[in-house]
Amino acid sequence: MSRRTFTFIGAALGSVLVLTMATTTVAGAQQTPAGSASRHVRKPVDWVALNPEFAGATFVSDPATCLGCHEDSVRTYDHTVHAAALKYAPGSAGGDCESCHGPRSEHVAEPTDALSHERMTAAAQSAICLQCHDGGARFGWKAGAHHAAEVSCQSCHVVMEKRSDRALLAQASSPQLCYRCHGETRAEMLKTSHHPVREGRMECVSCHNVHGSTEALLVKSTITETCVSCHTNKRGPFLWEHAPVREDCTTCHTPHGSNQRFLLATREPFLCLTCHSYGGHINLPRYNRTSNSYGNGCTNCHITTHGSNHPSGAKQTR
Ligand code: HEC
Ligand code: HEC
Ligand code: HEC
Ligand code: HEC
Ligand code: HEC
Ligand code: HEC
Ligand code: HEC
Ligand code: HEC
Ligand code: HEC
Ligand code: HEC
Repeated sequence: MSRRTFTFIGAALGSVLVLTMATTTVAGAQQTPAGSASRHVRKPVDWVALNPEFAGATFVSDPATCLGCHEDSVRTYDHTVHAAALKYAPGSAGGDCESCHGPRSEHVAEPTDALSHERMTAAAQSAICLQCHDGGARFGWKAGAHHAAEVSCQSCHVVMEKRSDRALLAQASSPQLCYRCHGETRAEMLKTSHHPVREGRMECVSCHNVHGSTEALLVKSTITETCVSCHTNKRGPFLWEHAPVREDCTTCHTPHGSNQRFLLATREPFLCLTCHSYGGHINLPRYNRTSNSYGNGCTNCHITTHGSNHPSGAKQTR
């Protein structure tokens, strides 16, 4: 069969679907939460720029054509959120399959793997998804570390098959997904003091926006803002502030794991002694000797190291 025939069937089927979809689109649009992906391509990509092999091809605009040869792929795809959301509708180039696979008239006539995602750069692969998903959490994607490191959307998401209960993740557990590439963080999380990720009470994405662009891809604009979004009692302001706490929690803590108690970066008293000498108690023998058991734990006496609201808490002793 010729290419022309396929295109014709596609166009004819398309116009039937246009009529049936016109009403459902309006109803669906009202239910779509603000900030979520548009049902349709907002910013169409230049397919030829992504892969020159697309030159001359047109949209078939008919998933039924694809189904004829790709029954296996469609069977798994049918259980995904895209299968439900991306029906062919007026004004959408390509409707379902071709929104992500580009104009396929040439492929239908003569199927090869020339148009494959695998043959595109990571940036090109992501551009396909960003047609509909450039808003919300992914606003800064192109300035972020994953994009810069040539990690694409499909490194973390599998869209042809539902493998996870949420967000089409490539793996059912999101930390396992991260550990595939971040083995060092896994090792940190195994230390005695750690954020309860391995206990399942938190995830990497509790602190990180992997689509973002801030330093270390955090959910808030700074480290301290990220920490105090959960540890609100450390937010302050306090009557008596401790300068390093205001500045950056990771001056004293590691975020992932430590073999010191309370995720401390260094053992006391060395932690405090990186900035302080024995300070005011230099001449008070009962405080300043390292042989004194209290001396090892400055916070045995300086109990409000994060800041104090006590009228006489200037020295963090209450
Ligand atoms: C939301 C984007 C998207 C949509 C919609 C989509 N695909 Fe895919 N498809 C991909 C990506 C990305 C890959 C390559 C990586 C992978 O397998 O996850 C792929 C891979 C494939 C493959 C290679 C083998 C396989 O199953 O992995 C086939 C065949 C395929 N898609 C056909 C289709 C057909 C037919 C439709 C429509 C029913 C469709 N796709 C809809 C993104 C999409
Ligand atoms: C006449 C049969 C046939 C039709 C119709 C067909 N394909 Fe294919 N498709 C194939 C074959 C065969 C391959 C494997 C080519 C290879 O690996 O060399 C393939 C591979 C693919 C792949 C993986 C490699 C690539 O090019 O990305 C995708 C995705 C794909 N087809 C999507 C589609 C879509 C979307 C449609 C509908 C517009 C479609 N196909 C229609 C036969 C077909
Ligand atoms: C033609 C537009 C379009 C394209 C292209 C597209 N998506 Fe989507 N995507 C949607 C719509 C519509 C939804 C439904 C939910 C919504 O409105 O956010 C969705 C939902 C999702 C979800 C959320 C799933 C869930 O369970 O909450 C993920 C993850 C996603 N898409 C990833 C991708 C990836 C990765 C690509 C590229 C391979 C891609 N999308 C390409 C339109 C698109
Ligand atoms: C490094 C891994 C990774 C990469 C790369 C990645 N994602 Fe995600 N994505 C995730 C994780 C993990 C979640 C779940 C986040 C959550 O539930 O808080 C998610 C959630 C989503 C969602 C659903 C929730 C939302 O924010 O609307 C969409 C849509 C999405 N990603 C699209 C994309 C697109 C498009 C790209 C490429 C531009 C991409 N992702 C790249 C890991 C990734
Ligand atoms: C496919 C591999 C891959 C996966 C999966 C992956 N990442 Fe990454 N990630 C990278 C690469 C490559 C970099 C850039 C080089 C580096 O800093 O290691 C990076 C960088 C980062 C950074 C550091 C940014 C900076 O400024 O230094 C964070 C944070 C991060 N990823 C978190 C995550 C989280 C959380 C997940 C799981 C949701 C995840 N990554 C999944 C490959 C991956
Ligand atoms: C409690 C919040 C939190 C959790 C949970 C968390 N991180 Fe981080 N992560 C951070 C902070 C804060 C930084 C920045 C550290 C710095 O710059 O000193 C960071 C940095 C990183 C970096 C950059 C390199 C490095 O180690 O400094 C990677 C990669 C990373 N995190 C991956 C992960 C992965 C993977 C997980 C899940 C296993 C995870 N993170 C869980 C807060 C967190
Ligand atoms: C998403 C919420 C969340 C964020 C953000 C967060 N934490 Fe935590 N943090 C927790 C939870 C939950 C625990 C465990 C508390 C428990 O076991 O009762 C914890 C425990 C701790 C502990 C005690 C660890 C121990 O061994 O007992 C320290 C110290 C800590 N966090 C520091 C930080 C720092 C520093 C940051 C910023 C880099 C941060 N947290 C960001 C939720 C968070
Ligand atoms: C000057 C060093 C230092 C800085 C900076 C610091 N901490 Fe701590 N933190 C400690 C020490 C020492 C302990 C353990 C003993 C204690 O609580 O006095 C601790 C314990 C904790 C604990 C567990 C015990 C508790 O009080 O709940 C949390 C949570 C915590 N810090 C969060 C934070 C957050 C959030 C920040 C940033 C706003 C921060 N820390 C900045 C030194 C510091
Ligand atoms: C990164 C450097 C740094 C670290 C680490 C640090 N501090 Fe401080 N600390 C400061 C600075 C700066 C001030 C404010 C000094 C001033 O106002 O003269 C301060 C003030 C104090 C004060 C009040 C001093 C005064 O003169 O009013 C006490 C007490 C104190 N720190 C105890 C500790 C303890 C205990 C630890 C360990 C848990 C610690 N500090 C860790 C930098 C640090
Ligand atoms: C046995 C209790 C105790 C221990 C242990 C202790 N301190 Fe103090 N520290 C005090 C008291 C009480 C003051 C207030 C003295 C004053 O008001 O004159 C003080 C004052 C300070 C000051 C403020 C000095 C000034 O000029 O006003 C600093 C800094 C300080 N301590 C740091 C440390 C560090 C660092 C350690 C651990 C190496 C430590 N302290 C261990 C009780 C202790």
